[in-house]
Amino acid sequence: MSKDLLDKYSSTRIVAGPGSLAQLGKLSKELGAARVLVVSDRGVASAGHTQRGLDSLESAGLAVDLYDGVEENPTTIHVGEGLERANAFRPDLLVGLGGGSAMDCAKGINFVYSCGGSMADYHGVGKATSELLPMIGVPTTSGTGSETQSFALISDAATHQKMACGDKRASFKAAILDPLTTVTQPVQVTAATGIDAISHAVESYVTRQRNDVSKKLSVEAWNLLSGNFQKVIELPEDVEARAAMQLGACLAGLAIEHSMLGAAHSAANPLTARYGVIHGVAVG
Ligand SMILES: [Fe+2]
Repeated sequence: MSKDLLDKYSSTRIVAGPGSLAQLGKLSKELGAARVLVVSDRGVASAGHTQRGLDSLESAGLAVDLYDGVEENPTTIHVGEGLERANAFRPDLLVGLGGGSAMDCAKGINFVYSCGGSMADYHGVGKATSELLPMIGVPTTSGTGSETQSFALISDAATHQKMACGDKRASFKAAILDPLTTVTQPVQVTAATGIDAISHAVESYVTRQRNDVSKKLSVEAWNLLSGNFQKVIELPEDVEARAAMQLGACLAGLAIEHSMLGAAHSAANPLTARYGVIHGVAVG
């Protein structure tokens, strides 16, 4: 049921299952890639997931480079650093491997690398001036649902303003949901990202912009998330519950793509931008 909804309402091809990260190289090749820039963060890298992704790409015969300097709530500085790597390496495909921050940063890099200018030029909707490079999302948290969204949230490093940059061309061509990448999280991360995903399911269901499609997605997401949140807190290695949370977060992200969010996120984003409150704590 969940997978059917994703196949029907998302333009992103979803590949899911324990160990599916090993398919990253094959998927990249299917998208015509020869040179892949992986965008990740050091926490995910130290857990070994980034290397597993790089290994899969190299085994498929692809040239790879890595930018792993992304931090929580990525800013124009992170996009600038990643852009430098892209300009030097000249990738033909980007991979966002990590939480929402890594995936959003990959989108941000792609906007500026493919279309020129600066990040602020893409603040708003539909501002891309050309096609973007194909991208694959590999979420290692069950939270933002960025893998099924065409928006990137990038903060202006000078003003702290969160810029929502959205364009259908910034959607991932494919996303890999490998629950084994989520079992290594600290419990605080599992809790904060899980609350974020639950908030997405609830807010997208009650927002005035809800519609028949977003409601279906919100309800399915809620069923998966509410039934498994406690399990992953109490039993972090429960791969089945982890997979359900990952799918739920992905569906909630897609619900947002079809509706929008509501009051909790409107109130939370300034708290994060101004005081650095962790996103999942601010919405919860
Ligand atoms: Fe959120």
